[in-house]
Amino acid sequence: MKILVTGGAGFIGGNFVHLMVNRYPDDQIVNLDLLTYAGNLETLKPVEDRPNYKFIRGDIADEPFVMALFEKEKFDVVVNFAAESHVDRSITDPGIFIQTNIQGTRVLMDASRKYGVKRYHQVSTDEVYGDLPLDRPDLYFTEETPIHTSSPYSSSKASADLFVLAYHRTYGLPVTISRCSNNYGAYQFPEKLIPLIISRALAGEELPVYGKGENVRDWLHVSDHCEAIDLILRKGRVGEVYNIGGHNERTNLEVVKTILRALDRPESLIRFVTDRPGHDMRYAIDPTKIETELGWRPQYNFDTGIRQTIDWYLNNREWWEHIISGEYANYFDKMYGKRLETNP
Ligand code: NAD
Ligand code: DAU
Repeated sequence: MKILVTGGAGFIGGNFVHLMVNRYPDDQIVNLDLLTYAGNLETLKPVEDRPNYKFIRGDIADEPFVMALFEKEKFDVVVNFAAESHVDRSITDPGIFIQTNIQGTRVLMDASRKYGVKRYHQVSTDEVYGDLPLDRPDLYFTEETPIHTSSPYSSSKASADLFVLAYHRTYGLPVTISRCSNNYGAYQFPEKLIPLIISRALAGEELPVYGKGENVRDWLHVSDHCEAIDLILRKGRVGEVYNIGGHNERTNLEVVKTILRALDRPESLIRFVTDRPGHDMRYAIDPTKIETELGWRPQYNFDTGIRQTIDWYLNNREWWEHIISGEYANYFDKMYGKRLETNP
């Protein structure tokens, strides 16, 4: 099989490329990535010389380029990770989210239709369901929960999902969608909560916690996510949505304190800063469908997963120090400068 993985120089796509290249030596894995600020070829170092792996730089929203690529490569399967993925960036600059997340998905699906791709898989997010109230711990997102988005990011991902389902119904494109909760693990860009807190705590810098830090996220180890996608590709039913989550809910403040304890750094580094506009309160996935239909079970709980993740950042300082010393430093000043000057 020839599998196109888009966004494979990013966090989850990179972990997925590692898994697939190692597990399926007889399959060809082609990684298409634009190398935006979030793409990093260093992540692919462990597989870059493998005979069943190839990297191509390009934009999923560039229709002539994508059509020519599909004509040449004749992909059997497409797994679309490529996206603008950061909620805070979508609040300051929504346009690129529409371009990449919606238009890019449309282009990939038109190419998949035209060149007879046997499975198109869309990597989506639990954020399409909006959020849950803190005082109703009995509520979870199921695949039947209505789409109800909060941010430009989640709206772009939800729009893409609707196009994916429409392409299945209207054109018979063989699609699947997975919607998962917050990922953590190796190779995550340090703009996201966990790597941001680890890298700043190690440097003894202030740790920005939005609002009161009471928002809840349902943490999923990236390896468990990648395993779930592999399972969906092989056993999932076409036209279906599968939620992925492992019942690992934590408040943001709990996450930050856990990291500080593990690194033996003081809680006095915590700074409560102005909240994210429209900040979702709680995400929590009900994974019953993927567990009962496909037999998926997460291998990590948060306590072991976060320890392993912290160790990875300690042992791979070069990977992230390189990032935070570059253009990202300007982003941090722009995004957090004012917030850190004033308490809410
Ligand atoms: P990421 O930001 O780390 O990586 C995104 C990758 O896509 C980068 O390598 C970037 O260069 C590439 N890319 C961006 N625009 C592109 C374009 N126009 N053409 C080609 N490549 C482009 O993202 P991530 O955290 O790995 O997320 C991957 C996918 O999973 C996204 O679709 C995201 O919505 C979804 N998701 C992420 C999480 C999470 O917790 N990180 C949770 C649920 C769903
Ligand atoms: O739920 C899945 C989603 O998880 C994915 O679809 C997104 O691509 C991914 O970025 C993530 O979205 P979040 O907004 O939940 O992740 P983030 O790491 O940005 O923030 C996690 C929580 O931590 C959120 O409640 C905001 C808070 N936060 C974040 C940052 C960056 C802070 O308190 N301080 C920070 O500096």
